[in-house]
Amino acid sequence: MPHRSPGSSGSSRPQYLSGKPIRYYRPRGSAEIRHLIEEGFQAFNAARIGEACRIFTDKMLDPDHDTTIGLTVAGALTPAGLGGCIVELINRGLVDFVISTGANLYHDLHYALNFTLHRGSPFVNDVDLYEEGVIRIYDVLFPAKVLLETDAYIRAFLERSGMNGPVSSAEFHYALGRDLLERQPGCEEHSVVAAAAAAGAPIYTSSPGDSSIGMNIAYHELMNDSRLMIDANKDVNEVCAFILAGKKNGCVILGGGSPKNFYLQGQPTLWEVYGIPKGGNDYFIQFTTDQVVWGGLSGATPSEAVSWGKVNPGVLPDTVVAYCDSTIAFPLFSEYVVGSERGRRKRKELVHQRDALVAALKEEALVARREHPVPSETLDTMPDLERHR
Ligand SMILES: NC(=O)c1ccc[n+]([C@@H]2O[C@H](COP(=O)([O-])OP(=O)(O)OC[C@H]3O[C@@H](n4cnc5c(N)ncnc54)[C@H](O)[C@@H]3O)[C@@H](O)[C@H]2O)c1
Repeated sequence: MPHRSPGSSGSSRPQYLSGKPIRYYRPRGSAEIRHLIEEGFQAFNAARIGEACRIFTDKMLDPDHDTTIGLTVAGALTPAGLGGCIVELINRGLVDFVISTGANLYHDLHYALNFTLHRGSPFVNDVDLYEEGVIRIYDVLFPAKVLLETDAYIRAFLERSGMNGPVSSAEFHYALGRDLLERQPGCEEHSVVAAAAAAGAPIYTSSPGDSSIGMNIAYHELMNDSRLMIDANKDVNEVCAFILAGKKNGCVILGGGSPKNFYLQGQPTLWEVYGIPKGGNDYFIQFTTDQVVWGGLSGATPSEAVSWGKVNPGVLPDTVVAYCDSTIAFPLFSEYVVGSERGRRKRKELVHQRDALVAALKEEALVARREHPVPSETLDTMPDLERHR
């Protein structure tokens, strides 16, 4: 078969795209779902989902704890319509910042731009889909032209934004969100990127080159001589600064992947690199299908994270992993949380505090370096390192 872009030979037969449009589902705090979780989810991973709901509402949302909460997002969640749960948690101040794969942010833009993704079947002929110009993410189907038109929007945004140097991914996504709010009024109801910009919640991506957003930034450099660059160092320091400033810190991890580590590495960045012992993350909730036995990061337990200083050893009871597809667990969790008495709190609007908090991090790191200087000869006298050089 000659190589070409999908569907360029003809028009799409409509049947693949005849499924209902996927809409962002917005949790409303259903009392029935809270009842199901409290009374029906009694053992195994159902009970772990219940535990996650109670850790979040009873402890992380306890006003005395003033927990800074990070949400990490991996897996095809915005294509599956789960962006609405993220929008709701951001609007209610229940999530202070987000770390996502680029894919979820890119696919979120389709909703912001009013393109339609459809419910479908995973049991279809992919060669036929290719001929028809239909893209498939498991059972989510949409025309290839959605990709092309979303890319065209990103490229036009890059040109009009005037950004032309290193920026953190939070700054980039904030500018993107503001642009969407201006050009697509009302889209904050059905776009994570737009809702986060409106609410002042920073969004980071742990792998900026790994998505169509990154691909279009690369185009902008090559074709327009742009110097715009997502600066990973800024991202590392900003997330680290949020964690340092947090009275307590907690996370909700959807899936795993690089966003999980990007959040959790904040604590080792503090103690291992900057010499500031913050004590480890206080709360850890993960919904994942990944297994611990393969030794990968995504399946690693909170207990393993203790050994890295990522999780406070004293708080293991405040950590939970529910082995469950996030497309099931996260809407249930969101309904429970939204329906709780603590289902809304004042937003921290961290996107506007990035520079001040990074400056505070630097100040504390300078103090730490003055008080505990690392002698330069230490490395030369460490026998283990010597042996492995
Ligand atoms: N166009 C783009 O920009 C682009 C780029 C990369 C990926 N994609 C698409 O986006 C989708 C999402 O990719 P991604 O990079 O976010 O992550 P991913 O699908 O590679 O998943 C990352 C992690 O999340 C876990 N996970 C995935 N689905 C889960 C689920 N339903 N429940 C619990 N855990 C789950 C995985 O086990 C893995 O650890 C891919 O399926 C791909 O089709 C698009």
